[in-house]
Amino acid sequence: MKTIRLNNGVEMPQTGYGVWQITPEACEHFVTEALNAGYRSIDTAQAYYNEEGVGEAVSKCGIPRQELFLTTKVWITNAGEEKAAHSIDESLRKLKTDYIDLLLIHQPFGDYYGTYRAMEKAYKAGKVRAIGLSNFYDARFVDLAENMEVKPAVLQLETHVFSQQVSMRSLIKEYGTQLMAWSPLARGMNGLFTDGTLKAIGAKYGKDNAQVALKFLTEEGIIIIPQSTKKERIISNLNIDDFTLTAADMEALRRLDTGHPLAADFNDPQMAKFLLNYDRQFRPAGK
Ligand SMILES: NC(=O)c1ccc[n+]([C@@H]2O[C@H](COP(=O)([O-])OP(=O)(O)OC[C@H]3O[C@@H](n4cnc5c(N)ncnc54)[C@H](OP(=O)(O)O)[C@@H]3O)[C@@H](O)[C@H]2O)c1
Repeated sequence: MKTIRLNNGVEMPQTGYGVWQITPEACEHFVTEALNAGYRSIDTAQAYYNEEGVGEAVSKCGIPRQELFLTTKVWITNAGEEKAAHSIDESLRKLKTDYIDLLLIHQPFGDYYGTYRAMEKAYKAGKVRAIGLSNFYDARFVDLAENMEVKPAVLQLETHVFSQQVSMRSLIKEYGTQLMAWSPLARGMNGLFTDGTLKAIGAKYGKDNAQVALKFLTEEGIIIIPQSTKKERIISNLNIDDFTLTAADMEALRRLDTGHPLAADFNDPQMAKFLLNYDRQFRPAGK
């Protein structure tokens, strides 16, 4: 498994398995499938309400904890120094671990300065090995990165062949921040799984569209966390180390970039309202 060295020296697997929208009940099963397939990095979040499932799978898998890499994210309702600190301890309990490898602020809303201060404290206390952000764009990213002592190790953004985040990549480089792609398969949007350019390139190497799309991102130095609930896809999405894309392939794939995200615009007030009310709508009963 290839790793990426973060700005604080921590080594992070370049490929991980994401568990958004996997029910708390199913999560243990799918994380176990992913670990059996060879994934060692798991991306969850407080707002996925399935951290316990990840914790069950990792505590039963028999793989030494230091060989695993767990990412979780602080949700908006836990924003602010005190609440965030409490939520980090809750995440540790649910994940059945005494440290989180990477902790991110999930969304750029609420008192995220307070949240980041709590994360810095947890980092210094050894509860967290690296801290970073998710969905912070442009000036908002710069504001926080400039003002906080611990520079974000990772920024997680919607990134795939159709939204390559070229300008954000160059901006975050100034802070040594590493891009981590959410929805690296664009959740199939824009016809990713049938796209002709991906297909033609894949045909040369016996690879499918998903494998070419993921390989492109790793060749660009981006961390990926594809998700699937199909065992054969969990396996095939990891099976991208045995071929190389040529410079011409990479150029053709770069031309697929639309220059903007397809799923979420974090400058859209409606998106902000949706996320600020997300918990009320999506929190499962009793969680
Ligand atoms: N920070 C954030 O705000 C944020 C937002 C979204 C996501 N994320 C993280 O990023 C992870 C991945 O993103 P995502 O789940 O949105 O989308 P994704 O990984 O781009 O795509 C997942 C979808 O593609 C299908 N799929 C996967 N592999 C396939 C293959 N080889 N061939 C055909 N279809 C395939 C899956 O269906 P099947 O299950 O049927 O295979 C699923 O519907 C999430 O799980 C989460 O951890 C973070």
